[in-house]
Amino acid sequence: MNEVLKTIKNRRSVRQYQAEQIKDVELTTILEAASYAPSGHNCQPWHFTVIQNKDLLNLMNEKIKEQMRLPQHEWANKMGESSRFNVFYEAPTVIIVSGDETASSPLPLAGTNFHYTPLVDCAGAIVNMMLAAESIGIGSCWLGLVNFFFALPETEKLHIPENYKPFFAVTLGYKGEKVIGQLAPKRKTDIISYIR
Ligand SMILES: Cc1cc2nc3c(=O)[nH]c(=O)nc-3n(C[C@H](O)[C@H](O)[C@H](O)COP(=O)(O)O)c2cc1C
Repeated sequence: MNEVLKTIKNRRSVRQYQAEQIKDVELTTILEAASYAPSGHNCQPWHFTVIQNKDLLNLMNEKIKEQMRLPQHEWANKMGESSRFNVFYEAPTVIIVSGDETASSPLPLAGTNFHYTPLVDCAGAIVNMMLAAESIGIGSCWLGLVNFFFALPETEKLHIPENYKPFFAVTLGYKGEKVIGQLAPKRKTDIISYIR
């Protein structure tokens, strides 16, 4: 199997990290890969906020868990109440991926908003980032739970550029011992139809 296919198949959501920070050169490689993702009309409507500040990550974790404990988020209550659960899995680097809400293209498709797809474009950038990370031996996990934080006024602390909306976070770090070599969750198989 070629290296790209191996990387795609070996990447897992990593939920245990070593405390050691990743190297700046590794971080740059991963971010550069993100920036090479395709985007609608080549808008490249993404912004990456790199957080390597433990105090800020601890604050975000606490605030998110506070939200997860609220009765209206029943599905998340258990995780919010667990003292062992850390939303970022103690990863030393967390990247917030935000999309430019004002990005526009000269070619709107009639009656749709399909020419402008920052959320989709950012998702592509995240996948590039995670595959690049895996290819250089760094673990990552895509985080939707961080959206609990984006709803709070403390989001100001992230200094997201004006008109950009934070969508997701990605954790980065060297993999913890327990997760090295972990197997992929079973893949659905009945997902393809052919018209030939
Ligand atoms: C949009 C999105 C949001 C996700 N949010 C979280 C999250 O908040 N926490 C988490 O541990 N994993 C999160 N994941 C990771 C998925 O749980 C994971 O990709 C899935 O279980 C398949 O496992 P794999 O990535 O190892 O193939 C998210 C994935 C996606 C695509």
